[in-house]
Amino acid sequence: MKYPFRLIAIAMILLSPAVFAKELRVSSPNGEITVIVSDDTATPQYQVLFKGEQVIAASRLGMVFKQGPYLDKGFTIKDSIRNKVNASWQQPWGERSQVSDHHNELAVTFSAARAQVNHYTVRVKVFDDGLGFRYEVPTQPGLTGPVEITNELTEFAIKEYKNSTAFWIPSRAFNRYEYVYNTTPLEQVHIAHTPFTFTSASGVHVSIHEAALVDYAGMSLNQRRPGVLKADLAPWSDGILVKTTADFKTPWRTVQISKDAVGLLNSNLILNLNEANKLGDVSWVEPGKYVGIWWGMHIKETTWGSGETHGATTAEVKRYMDFAAKYGFKGVLVEGWNIGWDGDWFFNGDVFNFSKAYDDFDIEAISQYGQAKGVKLIGHHETSGNVTNYRQQMAEAFDLYQKHGVSQVKTGYVADGGNIKRIDQQGNARFEWHDGQFMVNEYLYNITEAAKRNISINTHEPIKATGLRRTYPNWISREGARGQEFNAWGSPPNPPEHTTILPFTRLLAGPMDFTPGIFDLSFNGLGADSNRPQTTLAKQLALYVVLYSPIQMAADLPRNYQANLPALQFIVDVPTDWQDSRALAGEIGEYVVFARQDKHSDDWFVGGLTDEKARTITFKLDFLDADKKYQAQIYRDGSEANWIDKPYELEIENLEVTTDTLTIPMATSGGFAIRFQPQN
Ligand code: NOJ
Ligand code: CA
Repeated sequence: MKYPFRLIAIAMILLSPAVFAKELRVSSPNGEITVIVSDDTATPQYQVLFKGEQVIAASRLGMVFKQGPYLDKGFTIKDSIRNKVNASWQQPWGERSQVSDHHNELAVTFSAARAQVNHYTVRVKVFDDGLGFRYEVPTQPGLTGPVEITNELTEFAIKEYKNSTAFWIPSRAFNRYEYVYNTTPLEQVHIAHTPFTFTSASGVHVSIHEAALVDYAGMSLNQRRPGVLKADLAPWSDGILVKTTADFKTPWRTVQISKDAVGLLNSNLILNLNEANKLGDVSWVEPGKYVGIWWGMHIKETTWGSGETHGATTAEVKRYMDFAAKYGFKGVLVEGWNIGWDGDWFFNGDVFNFSKAYDDFDIEAISQYGQAKGVKLIGHHETSGNVTNYRQQMAEAFDLYQKHGVSQVKTGYVADGGNIKRIDQQGNARFEWHDGQFMVNEYLYNITEAAKRNISINTHEPIKATGLRRTYPNWISREGARGQEFNAWGSPPNPPEHTTILPFTRLLAGPMDFTPGIFDLSFNGLGADSNRPQTTLAKQLALYVVLYSPIQMAADLPRNYQANLPALQFIVDVPTDWQDSRALAGEIGEYVVFARQDKHSDDWFVGGLTDEKARTITFKLDFLDADKKYQAQIYRDGSEANWIDKPYELEIENLEVTTDTLTIPMATSGGFAIRFQPQN
C-alpha cells in the first residue's frame, strides 16, 4: 500500500507548474538586451537583462476584464513564433530621413486549462536601443463582443530601485503633463507619467514609455511595492479603463535602455514600433518656422478677448506677416480671432465659435495679404476642453481654414486633468481625462479630419506622443510638457535645469512645440525671482537645435527681434527638418549637446545647453565631412554672462574650422548654437 501513495506524490510534483515552468528568451541583434518570458508558477511574467544583468526583474503580465474570466494566473506557455527584421524606412520629415529598424521578435502564446478566455499572445520586439511588448487578445469562447478592461496587470519591477534616480512628473493631476520635473530616488515616485526615465547606480539609463497608443487608455506608472511600477490606465468617467472588442491589441509597453544618457537620445524605438504612414502622399505637410500673435497675450500686453487690447486684429496680423516675409518665416499663428474668448476663456468651452470672427479680424483680407507675401496664416482652435462643442463644429471649422489656404492648425485643450467635458448620447455632461481612452480617440479623430483637408495639427494640452507621427505625419507637433509660456506667468517659471531634462524624458516621445526664442528676458525685470525665462540669450538659440520639432516658433515680439538682428540671424538660418541628428554629449538634468544636419543642404548645426552650473564642453567634430572645409558661426555666452543678471552677453564668432574638436564655455543656464557651412 505504500507504493501507490508515492507514485501519486511523484506524479503531482511532475505536473506542478514549477517543474514544467518554461522560459523563452529573445535578444537584441547586438546581444546586449535580452527579454525572458516565462510561466513560472503558472503566472505569465517577463524580465529584462542588459549585458547579462537584470534591469527589470520577473514582472507580472496580464489583464482583468469586467466580464468573466481574465488573463492572470493559470496560464502557461503553449506556443511561440520568432521573426527577425533588418530593414530601414524613410521619414517624410524628422530628426533623420532614414530610420533603421533592426530587431528580433518573439510572440509567445499563453493558454489556460479552461473552456473560456483561455489564450492570448504577448509579442516582444527587441532592438539594440530597447524593447517593446504588447498583448494580443483574439476572439475566443467567453470573449466575443465588447470587452471592458478594469485592470492591466503589467508591472515593471526595477531591479536596482534602491540605487536609482528617477526623472518624472506626476500623473492623474490637474496640470496634465505641465509640471516641473522631479529628480528623486526611484523609491519616492508615486504615480508618474511616461516617458519615465531613471538611471541606476551601475550606470544603466532606462526610459519606460509606450508606443502606438490607439483606442486604448494612456498608461501611467504607479509604484505599489517599492520598486514595482504598475501600469495604471487613465479611467473613463464611469471607471472602466478600456472599452474595446475582442480581437484587440494593446499599445506597446516600451523600455529604452542604454549604457549612457546620450544613448537614450539616439534611439528610434518608439517610431519603429508604430505602423507605417497611412496617409499616402504627405508632401503637403510642411515643416518650418513661424511667428505669431501669441507671446503678447502671455505677457499681458494684449488679450485674446475683444476690445481695446485685442491682439488678433487685421492690422496687427498684417504687421506680423510683413515681419515674417522679411525674415523668411513661413507662417503667422493667430490666437484669439474667433468668438468665445471674452470673459474667463479657461472655463468658456461652451461658447467658442470656430468659424465666426471678431469684427476687427478679416480672415479673407488676411489670407490674401499673406498669399501675396508667401506667408500662411496658421489657424488656432482652443476648445477649453469642451470637446463636444468642438466636435460639432470641427468639419465646418476645418473647411473654413482650408478655403483660406491654412495648412496648419494649433489646437488647445485647456482644462484641468479629469475635466474634459463631453456630452454623452443621453445629453449628460461627462468629465474625462486628457489621457483616457475617450480622449485618445478624440485627438486622433481630429488628426484624421484635418488630414482629409491637407491640414497639419500642432496639439496643445495633448495626449502624450507615442510615435503616431509615423502613421499620421500630419500630427506635426504637440506640447505635453511645460513650454515657454510658463516663463511668462508660471509660478515658478521653468527652472534652469528644465531643458536639460526634457530631451531625456518628454522629447523621447516625439517633437515638442516648446516655442523658443525669447529675446527680451527682462519684461518682468531680471534677477532670479521674477517671471522670466531663466536662461541666457545664447541658451534661447540653443533650444532650436536641442528641442526637436519640425515646426519651431520664434516666440518673441517682432520689436524684440528687430532690436537684435545679429542674434536673430541664427533663428533665420536654422532649419527644422533634418537629414540626420546625433546627440553628442549629455547627462540628465545637467547638460546636453546635439548635432543635426540640414535636410536640404550640407550645413550642420550644433546646439548645447546647461543647467544652473556654468561648464565648458568639448566635443568632437567627427560628424563633419573630412574632405570639406567649414566655416563656423558660433553664438555663445560672453565671458561675463550669467542667467540671473547678465543674460544678454552674447559672443558671435565667425571662424574657419581647423581643429577636430571644439571647446565652448557655457554660462550658468547658458548655451550655444553653431552653424557649420562647407566652403567651396
Ligand atoms: C495653452 C497653450 O499652450 C498656449 O500656447 C495657448 O496660447 C493658450 N493655451 C491659449 O489657447
Ligand atoms: Ca499649455
